[in-house]
Amino acid sequence: MEEKESFLKQKIDANSPNKNIVPITTSIESDGKLSIGGCSIEELVKKYDSPLYILDEITLRNSCRAYKKALEKHYPGKSLPIYASKANSSIFMSNLVSSEGLGLDAVSEGELLTALKGGVPNEKIVFHGNNKSDKEIEFAVRNNIKVIVDNDYDLERLEEISNSIDRDLEIMIRFTPGIECHTHEYIRTGSFDSKFGFGIEYLNILFDRISKTKRLKLRGLHAHIGSQIFELDPHKDLGEIMVNVILDAKNFGHDIEKLNVGGGLGIKYTENDDPPSIDEWVKTISTSVVKACKKHNLNLPTLMCEPGRSIVSTAGITIYKIGAFKEIPGIRTYLSVDGGMSDNPRPITYQSDYSACLVGNPFNINTNSKNKYTIAGKHCESGDVLFKEIELANCKTGDLICVFGTGAYNNSMSSNYNRIPRPAAVLVCDGEAEIIQKRESPLDLLKYDVLPDRFIK
Ligand SMILES: Cc1ncc(COP(=O)(O)O)c(C=O)c1O
Repeated sequence: MEEKESFLKQKIDANSPNKNIVPITTSIESDGKLSIGGCSIEELVKKYDSPLYILDEITLRNSCRAYKKALEKHYPGKSLPIYASKANSSIFMSNLVSSEGLGLDAVSEGELLTALKGGVPNEKIVFHGNNKSDKEIEFAVRNNIKVIVDNDYDLERLEEISNSIDRDLEIMIRFTPGIECHTHEYIRTGSFDSKFGFGIEYLNILFDRISKTKRLKLRGLHAHIGSQIFELDPHKDLGEIMVNVILDAKNFGHDIEKLNVGGGLGIKYTENDDPPSIDEWVKTISTSVVKACKKHNLNLPTLMCEPGRSIVSTAGITIYKIGAFKEIPGIRTYLSVDGGMSDNPRPITYQSDYSACLVGNPFNINTNSKNKYTIAGKHCESGDVLFKEIELANCKTGDLICVFGTGAYNNSMSSNYNRIPRPAAVLVCDGEAEIIQKRESPLDLLKYDVLPDRFIK
C-alpha cells in the first residue's frame, strides 16, 4: 500500500490560517481517521447527522488575532479590524469576533440584528449596501450604527432623517477607487463599472453636496476592491488613493477620521493557491497609508479593514455521506453525496475549487488512477457537482467525505433549493462539540407556505 503525498501532511501555519487548506487543529487519530478540534468526525456525524458544517474555534480565534496583532504591529495610529459578516453570519460568529475585539460589517437588517444579538457593540458595527430600505436605514440610525453611504439615494434619506431628528449624523462614504481586482490580476481603470459606491470622478461634487447639508458630518471613507486576492500591490495602491481622497475631502472642510480599506485577502483552497499571510497584507496597507499621510503631512486616520473569507473560511469544513454510485464506463464515475449546491452554491456559481478527503481514509491509502470520481450533489440540477474530478481511495456508500475551506460563503449563501433543509453547524474545541445552528427539518420549510382558504376543500 502506497501512501500518497497529501495536503494533509503540509506544515500548518498557526499564525495565518488563510495559508492552510485545513483547520489548524486537524489531526489523524491513531485509528487513521480524521479529527478536528480534538473531535472525531465520525463521532460527530453519528451524533449530529450529515451533511454537517463544522467550525474550528482555534482557527477562528487565530485568524481574528492575526488581524489585531498585525494592525497593532504595523500601524502606529488607531485601528479596528471588522469582520465582514456576509461571509458567515450568525449569533455565534458575531459573538466570537466581538470577544476577540473585532467590529463587524452588515448589509441588511437581518445581519445587523444578528450582530446586535451576538453582542457586537453598536459603535463597532458599520452598515453597507447599495439599496438599503428606509426601514433598514432607520434601524441603523436608531441603534447608533454608522451608515456607509453608497449613493445619492442613501444620502437624501440620511439628510432627511438627520433633519427630522435634529441631530448630527456621522457618515462614511463608499467609492470605487478605479482598481479592478481578480485573484491573480488587477488593473487600474479611470472609473469602475460597479453597482457599489460613488465613482471616484464624482467625489468633489459629492463633498460639496455633503458640506451643504445641515446635519451630515463626513467622517470616513470606504472602498472594497475584490475578493480572494493573492497580490499585495492592489491594496498598496488603494492605501495611497484613499489618502489622496482624504486631501480632496479636506478642501471641502471634511475631516476624515476613518479609512476602511475593505476585505479581500485570499485563502488557500487547493495546493495551487498561495495567498499572502495576514501579517503581510496588513503590513502592505499600513505602510502605504502611513507613507502617504507622512507625505501630505496628515494625521493618521483610524485604519479599518473588513476581512470575511480569511477570518472564517479555513476554520470551516463540511461533511457529507456518500450515497449512490454511477459508473459510466470509459467516461467517469459519479459519486453522489447527501448535500450539494444548497449548502455550497460556490462550485455551481463560481466554478470554485476545494480540497477534500475521506474521513475514514484521509491519506487516500490505496489510491490508484482508477479512483477518480466526480462528486455530485443530490439536487435536481446537472450542474450540481462539487468536484469535477477528485482522486480518492476506494470508497463505498456510507463513507464520509470532508470538504475543507467551507467556512465562508457556504452557510451564508445556502438555500432550500429542492426543499432540502439546511445542515446543522457545530463548533469544535478541545474535544468538545457544541451546536451553533440547529438542523432544519422538512417541516420547518413549510412554515411560511400559505394555502388560501378558497383552496381548502
Ligand atoms: C464591502 C465588502 N467588504 C468586505 C468583504 C469581504 O471580503 P472577503 O471575504 O474577500 O475578505 C466584501 C466581500 O465581497 C465586501 O463586499
